[in-house]
Amino acid sequence: MSLLISRQYPATRLRRMRKDDFSRRLMRESSLSPDDLILPVFVLEGEQRREAVASMPGVERLSLDLLIEEAREVAALGIPALALFPVIDAQHKSELAEEAYNAGGLVQRSVRALKESLPELGVITDVALDPYTVHGQDGILDAQGYVQNDRTVETLLKQALSHAEAGADVVAPSDMMDGRIGAIRRILEQEQLHNTRIMAYSAKYASRYYGPFRDAVGSAGNLGKADKTTYQMDPANSDEAVHEVALDLAEGADMVMVKPGMPYLDVVRRIKQELAVPTFAYQVSGEYAMHMAAFEKGWLDADSVILESLMCFKRAGADGILTYFAKRAAQLLDQ
Ligand code: PBG
Repeated sequence: MSLLISRQYPATRLRRMRKDDFSRRLMRESSLSPDDLILPVFVLEGEQRREAVASMPGVERLSLDLLIEEAREVAALGIPALALFPVIDAQHKSELAEEAYNAGGLVQRSVRALKESLPELGVITDVALDPYTVHGQDGILDAQGYVQNDRTVETLLKQALSHAEAGADVVAPSDMMDGRIGAIRRILEQEQLHNTRIMAYSAKYASRYYGPFRDAVGSAGNLGKADKTTYQMDPANSDEAVHEVALDLAEGADMVMVKPGMPYLDVVRRIKQELAVPTFAYQVSGEYAMHMAAFEKGWLDADSVILESLMCFKRAGADGILTYFAKRAAQLLDQ
């Protein structure tokens, strides 16, 4: 009788390996460390200025002096790089976004100051015109309000070059114009900036999860009810993402990115599997806001959910994650 019962039990017991910490550690397939993280930061004009972002609790826009302090903490936590996003004063916004390539502009000054005080910390700059246009679109409009591709690329070139000349380690075009990676690579080569890396926002979707970011950089009001569907990707597609990534690689991208993050991890997985190149993902402002709202309500446990969410990016195949939780996660991983 007892023999009969025991035969009904499984020979394979997956719980055996889960029983103790040592065997759980031995069979763990993915890992998360501060090396995997990139912190996006918002910089604004002035001194000793910090402004809260209402839809992103815990995130602040910082003036350049405070940004340097922030960068010191980031470096001390072992985070390899930060990604700079400027808040541009209304008087510097225009139809043609000329401020984007001002050698003395906010981003260009920030890059110089960061590389001077913390040469080891990687500095990534956003190449896109939306902080600089009066309408909040990532490009230059024609009479019908359509974002003109090649005209915009001409301006992106100047912007990327001005970032690289200021000392940016990585330029990251987030605009989704066709052909911009190749054009930027050619100008960098021509100007002997051979080692400036390009992190291409290759599979960037027309996502409503960017709402809080647009509040943070102050482009939400300019954009109004308009969207970016004529250049950013349709959330329904993933073959198209592979096509975009393949093109950006052929044009000279060093790293590619999928954005947003958590709802798009299947795309991260496909790209890593099919193209096997350095693949990044962006846990965007809306994902951050959703988490923070649940933490504030006491509905989710912050520390463990932050680490779980980031581990899932690694499991999906991401080599690194841009996340507003980077500092907090690095602190947790340090404990
Ligand atoms: C601008 C840009 C956006 C983000 C990064 N770069 C917004 C947009 O495309 O409208 C979003 C980042 C986030 O939501 O955290 N080109």
